[in-house]
Amino acid sequence: MTAPWSPDGWRALGARQAPDYPDAEHRARVEEQLTGYPPLVFAGEARNLTVALGEVADGRGFLLQGGDCAESFAEFHPDNIRDTFRVLLQMAVVLTYGAACPVVKVGRLAGQFAKPRSEPTETRDGLELPSYRGDIVNGIEFTAQARTPDPERMLKAYSQAAATLNLLRAFAQGGYADLHHVHSWNMDFLAGHAAGERYREMADRIGESLSFMEACGIDSSNAPAVRQTSFYTSHEALLLGYEQSMTRIDSTTGDWYDTSGHMLWIGDRTRQIDGAHVEFLRGVGNPLGVKVGPSMTTTDLLALIDVLNPDNVAGRLTLISRMGATAVREKLPPLVRAVKRQDRRIVWSCDPMHGNTVKSGVGFKTRDFQSILDEVRGFFDVHLAEGTHAGGVHVEMTGQDVTECIGGGQQISENDLSDRYHTHCDPRLNASQSLELAFLTAQMLRTEREKKL
Ligand code: PEP
Ligand code: CO
Repeated sequence: MTAPWSPDGWRALGARQAPDYPDAEHRARVEEQLTGYPPLVFAGEARNLTVALGEVADGRGFLLQGGDCAESFAEFHPDNIRDTFRVLLQMAVVLTYGAACPVVKVGRLAGQFAKPRSEPTETRDGLELPSYRGDIVNGIEFTAQARTPDPERMLKAYSQAAATLNLLRAFAQGGYADLHHVHSWNMDFLAGHAAGERYREMADRIGESLSFMEACGIDSSNAPAVRQTSFYTSHEALLLGYEQSMTRIDSTTGDWYDTSGHMLWIGDRTRQIDGAHVEFLRGVGNPLGVKVGPSMTTTDLLALIDVLNPDNVAGRLTLISRMGATAVREKLPPLVRAVKRQDRRIVWSCDPMHGNTVKSGVGFKTRDFQSILDEVRGFFDVHLAEGTHAGGVHVEMTGQDVTECIGGGQQISENDLSDRYHTHCDPRLNASQSLELAFLTAQMLRTEREKKL
């Protein structure tokens, strides 16, 4: 029997990673204000995503989830949203065309503001201040004022999420994502890069296929899939006060949905079975993700699946493996086997970012593109060996030409990191590295699909 659930039931459990607001009444006032704001997504859209992910769980699709590690108020600009969106579109095209597999597109966008931290405080030159927890909580500048958690930031994050989502919807459905524009999604700065050139050649072939289909009478006017695409949003449901305020009863089903985004995930630091985050998320109808790091045991994983997906609904739960390139081949197989043995209908996705973060010699947090590729390769190899479906990738990326991860076709070195290092948290793949990853992933996905035929 399932225990009763209410949107504020998590509060009795004491949430990990919660900010220490100096004025609890102020926080409560803002949370109350948010409960009256319009939902950002509609429950029916979240259900559509569950259905799409159900196809992935059953081996008939692939999940592409990506975007910023942390969205920021400072980088809020239509060009940034457009560029991230278009690289995600490019990656999706590479995967769809390269592996002949439907791709479910989910952005780490329009709400990805709250960050878990390994230490509650940070000390510089003898001054100790609260850690930066994402723009929805406090500011990144190292001053007492900026680092003090400010509830008003939740309202600003809500507004930015609303505007971002509005633009994403317009792009997805208003013509920007029309497959006829497949060439124009390629960034100018990718000209001359191997991945950009390879993409251009693929776009040529897609253009020819579209002409062929048009000659057969299939075009944008009678095939909406050519003209528009489905695009969903997601973020880590970390700041539970904000998430609770956005949680409403869906009038069409009577069920609770967290309307701050379509898909919500639980981070590796907050996935305790008796913790506040699991308690809150088990009660909302949205598709959920859980990060699965190297400390996860099969017993804990099966218990989490019991709580988060008691009815074994395909698409309800995505397990996002983030083991690190060296651990994935050893740590993932027992988990995959246990889940398969019990016929749990979940999606396995691979986050090759968070287990591969290192400090560069010059002090920047970075990731080696080679390790990222190695982890994805390891993930696919494990699933091939176990006869299960490598269902997706989850990446921190941007459409900008940043220098945050080393390696890749541009051969970014440790010394290049300071050139264009803009992230507010973890290092992201740039547009060229993202495309390169998509090509490699498409190849592995094709191998998996050929083996199954
Ligand atoms: C993240 O996705 O930004 C993150 C913090 O991941 P994890 O919980 O896997 O460490
Ligand atoms: Co991150």
